[in-house]
Amino acid sequence: MLDKFSLRKNKKEVGASTYSKEHIDLSSVPSHIAIIMDGNGRWAKKRGLPRIAGHHEGMKVVRKIVKASNEIGVKVLTLYAFSTENWKRPQSEVDYLMKLPEEFLGSFLPELVTENVQVRVMGNKEQLPAHTMRAINKAMIDTKENDGLILNFALNYGSRFEIIEGIKQIIKDTNNGKLNINDINEELFSEYLMSADLADPDLLIRTSGEVRLSNFMLWQLAYAEFWFTEVLWPDFEENNFYQAIVEYQRRGRRFGGI
Ligand code: FPP
Repeated sequence: MLDKFSLRKNKKEVGASTYSKEHIDLSSVPSHIAIIMDGNGRWAKKRGLPRIAGHHEGMKVVRKIVKASNEIGVKVLTLYAFSTENWKRPQSEVDYLMKLPEEFLGSFLPELVTENVQVRVMGNKEQLPAHTMRAINKAMIDTKENDGLILNFALNYGSRFEIIEGIKQIIKDTNNGKLNINDINEELFSEYLMSADLADPDLLIRTSGEVRLSNFMLWQLAYAEFWFTEVLWPDFEENNFYQAIVEYQRRGRRFGGI
């Protein structure tokens, strides 16, 4: 009760636009933040621009949020950049989205290297065009020794696909004697997912007013705090990000306990 009251009171005192790094308790920053970056198309439509203009603007926001995450000590930032369902979009939009990693890394890879960011990609890489793979492979190689923020792009990622692939591999390993059925538990199953060596997200952010998971990290988000905002991804700024973290820090995470 007290918590709810103070939350309401604080909301009045601090408007979204006034959130800054100073409002964050640096001793309890979420280690892993996952973001569903939504609303690029609507942002463009509102301005009479083609949808790809929204994606391009969204790419610039990625840079800002990576920087902000690094500054406050976030360990892992997972960004949903392309889902297994996104292939259903018009070919021209898919082609553009597949060029974005190249453009982003072409502009920002040197900075990511100096900022000690490690780039990773999680998703079904086999279906990605060769030019996209070249760009992300270069980024992964150039940053593999970095031990700061892990920038994990979910690219051609779908959680159900990931879970099915994990199950198939577990069955194979059981049949070939590498695994005993009694070894299968939650921890082991996590190791068969694409996020294998990453801790589960603590905080999930979704922009643009949509309130669903859209096949994103269904297993890994079991205990995450969810934070939704009406702000469209290209309009998302550092202060929105800080607001999400401040509200996360006000919540009491109990992991099923009391
Ligand atoms: C959802 O908005 C967004 C996407 C499918 C693409 C997200 C990609 C970026 C933000 C850029 C990624 C940058 C890098 C570096 C890879 P939507 O198109 O579904 O928006 P709408 O719901 O308003 O139509």
